[in-house]
Amino acid sequence: QATLPPTRDVDGVATLLKDGARCVVMLGAGASVAAGLPDFRTPGTGLYDTLEISGLPYPEAVFELDFFRTNPQPFYELAKALWPTDDSRPTKAHKLVKLLADKNQLIRCYTQNIDSLERAAGVPAEFVVAAHGNFDSATCIATGEKVDAEALRRAIYEGTTDAFNAQNGGLCKADIVFFGEALPDRFWASLREDFDEAELLLVIGTSLEVHPFASLIDLGTMPRVLINRDRVGEHQPDVAFPPSMGKLSGGFDFNETAPVPRDVFLQGDADAIVVDLVERAGWALD
Ligand code: OAD
Repeated sequence: QATLPPTRDVDGVATLLKDGARCVVMLGAGASVAAGLPDFRTPGTGLYDTLEISGLPYPEAVFELDFFRTNPQPFYELAKALWPTDDSRPTKAHKLVKLLADKNQLIRCYTQNIDSLERAAGVPAEFVVAAHGNFDSATCIATGEKVDAEALRRAIYEGTTDAFNAQNGGLCKADIVFFGEALPDRFWASLREDFDEAELLLVIGTSLEVHPFASLIDLGTMPRVLINRDRVGEHQPDVAFPPSMGKLSGGFDFNETAPVPRDVFLQGDADAIVVDLVERAGWALD
């Protein structure tokens, strides 16, 4: 039986952490905003509102496979801005994930982010599942063969992608999961075990709009904490995972009247909340 938070606020969550709760963490773009990277959907500042790339019928097309096949240039343009550099600095949210790993309280960090800041924070690779891929590897989508990601990066910066693609068998892209593509096998590999084992789920900086990632919150019975500017994830659509996962629906219930009072919403900027949480747990970020 899951241990409920003693109070459904920051102190209750800090108590669970201090008592050694083993955690699954789910990250979205909001966890990286303090590093200067925009999220996707915040009106006015999110990437989908601010993208100034010509040739796109609508912003999300930049991550659509069918569109990429007809015109890869917008994605290549965006990749120049998104490809991680050595200057990328992890946020307090990433440092919390590292701290949990150090304390042997991290089961897994499932991230939607393609900025690899979990690794920059020093979280060991086996604890990170890049659900939407990242720029570490690249594939020719015509042949299905892996290509040299660093060479693709150079071709993108130098404007020589046509030649690169011709040499490598067809259109090449970094292994970012586009709309219309399957998630990596690693996403599915230990989901059931990870969420069954979890004593606390920390969900940080995501709109929970994109499935199947968003449906993860409905796996398991552990207390769940949303750290986010916006209140999200309360009304999840019915999304069927493979039959072995069961049929999921529901989402968070932050209300006083929740039949099982396991969900906590900590509203605000992720880094400020993380600092507060860590202090209350009597811990210190590096
Ligand atoms: P979204 O942009 O959809 O959501 C970000 C969430 O973080 C919003 O609810 C914001 O209110 C919140 N937020 C922003 N800044 C914050 C901060 N400093 N502290 C706390 N919360 C903050 O981003 P994701 O949910 O990650 O796909 O988007 C999911 C997927 O959609 C992405 O992985 C991406 C996109 O299409 C790919 O890149 C393939």
